[in-house]
Amino acid sequence: MASTTDSGSCSPRLSLSTSDSISDIGTPETERSTLFSGSLSNFLYPDQQFIAVVGGLGYIGSHTCFELLKAGENIIIIDNLSNSFRGVYDRLELLSKLHYEGHEIDAPIMRFYEADFRDETAIKSILSEYSQPNRRFATTDDDSVITSRIKGVIHFGAYKSVSESIRNPLKYYANNVAGVIELCATLRDYNIKNFIFSSSATVYGSLANSGVPLKEEYCTHQTENFVDHDGLIKTTFGGCTGLTNPYGRSKWMCEAILSDLALADPEWTIIALRYFNPVGCDESGLLGEDPRGVPTNLMPVVLNVLAGTLPVLDIFGTNYPTPDGTAIRDFIHVTDLARGHIAALAATFNERVPKGFRAYNLGSGTGSSVLDVVTAVEAVSSTKIPIRAVDRRDGDVGICVAMPKRAEVELDWKTQKSLETSCRDIYNFLENKKGGPVPIG
Ligand code: UD1
Repeated sequence: MASTTDSGSCSPRLSLSTSDSISDIGTPETERSTLFSGSLSNFLYPDQQFIAVVGGLGYIGSHTCFELLKAGENIIIIDNLSNSFRGVYDRLELLSKLHYEGHEIDAPIMRFYEADFRDETAIKSILSEYSQPNRRFATTDDDSVITSRIKGVIHFGAYKSVSESIRNPLKYYANNVAGVIELCATLRDYNIKNFIFSSSATVYGSLANSGVPLKEEYCTHQTENFVDHDGLIKTTFGGCTGLTNPYGRSKWMCEAILSDLALADPEWTIIALRYFNPVGCDESGLLGEDPRGVPTNLMPVVLNVLAGTLPVLDIFGTNYPTPDGTAIRDFIHVTDLARGHIAALAATFNERVPKGFRAYNLGSGTGSSVLDVVTAVEAVSSTKIPIRAVDRRDGDVGICVAMPKRAEVELDWKTQKSLETSCRDIYNFLENKKGGPVPIG
């Protein structure tokens, strides 16, 4: 039975808009108290299925949304705009329109809900829009079996600053860890059990310094046997090694929890994607990395120096055991990374990956140093970037490079774009932002 109540001061703050300008319909200030209702969405799009993207307006989220749209997937974006801007949604609409112009098929549906993924009432209200009782199995009026038209969820909603996590660990554990538990519990209630989780290479902790490309088996949540780089069969026991900061621990904890969830309930298919260092932006220059607050990741800082917002790039550590002394990372173009999500979803739907929990590295397998990045940005911008050597940053590792084979074999995915392409694309974005046609934010 559907029950709707008018909003009160405690009702979720939802704003809905759609690509086809149905922005004035819906009941944004409405709270639904049951798992499903005679929903507007069911009425408008009775046969359509959707991918829900939590945190879909952030840097990686927005690029993934665009790749989903290009792949023909209808999407709903849930984002509280804590580290993103409403204008990103407008850009996605524009990009989708441009992409589908002249195509015989219509652009997929996209909808945006401004909501915090930790706001259970808001999330239930959204999920109810896409749920219906599963009459196929119901021999009585039992509405307890629900089907959802959300066929998968990609979860980007997390805080990601290593330094902030060291200063404020509870904030990270509450949002990143407690948040994922609450979200999965709600998804389970709505029978949505395909889940792609944004994880990070940071789960490898100090193993990153071992000098060999990181294999997924170096960090597992159950006991696993595997063939190592030296050809020997080794055993990993579930656990982590030398995690250097609360942000990293929060990602590891989430993975461990998701692995346990998939063990307990075999209906779940959960894929953790371990991102290495995403850089670059969509080649249109219309999407990019535009965090609120002070950026701490290398590329946004370099770009701020390039733009003159910061006077100099501090290089954290010049005495690492690397050829030029600066830290080495596996930089991956964000479009490649976004496509890794499409590959993971596709593998889930066509059952190339078995049900349960599985982790995949999303990296190129090639390391570049901090100085290599500076040189690459200088080359595309024809501008000298002032640098200053300072002490190592707390929580950093010297080398972190992926072994990307598992994703290549099982997801049919590998990177295609270089660091130079990433720098060129991000430079275009910066130029667009300066005087470009589409204002951001
Ligand atoms: C870390 C995590 C990564 C996570 C990311 C989230 C590890 C191994 N990696 O990335 O999984 O997604 O945080 O934020 O823990 N640097 C400078 N000057 C600057 C900024 C950065 O020299 O102003 C250096 C850093 O010291 C580091 C490299 O650039 O050596 C890359 O730093 P950053 O972009 O912050 O990413 P990671 O710390 O590698």
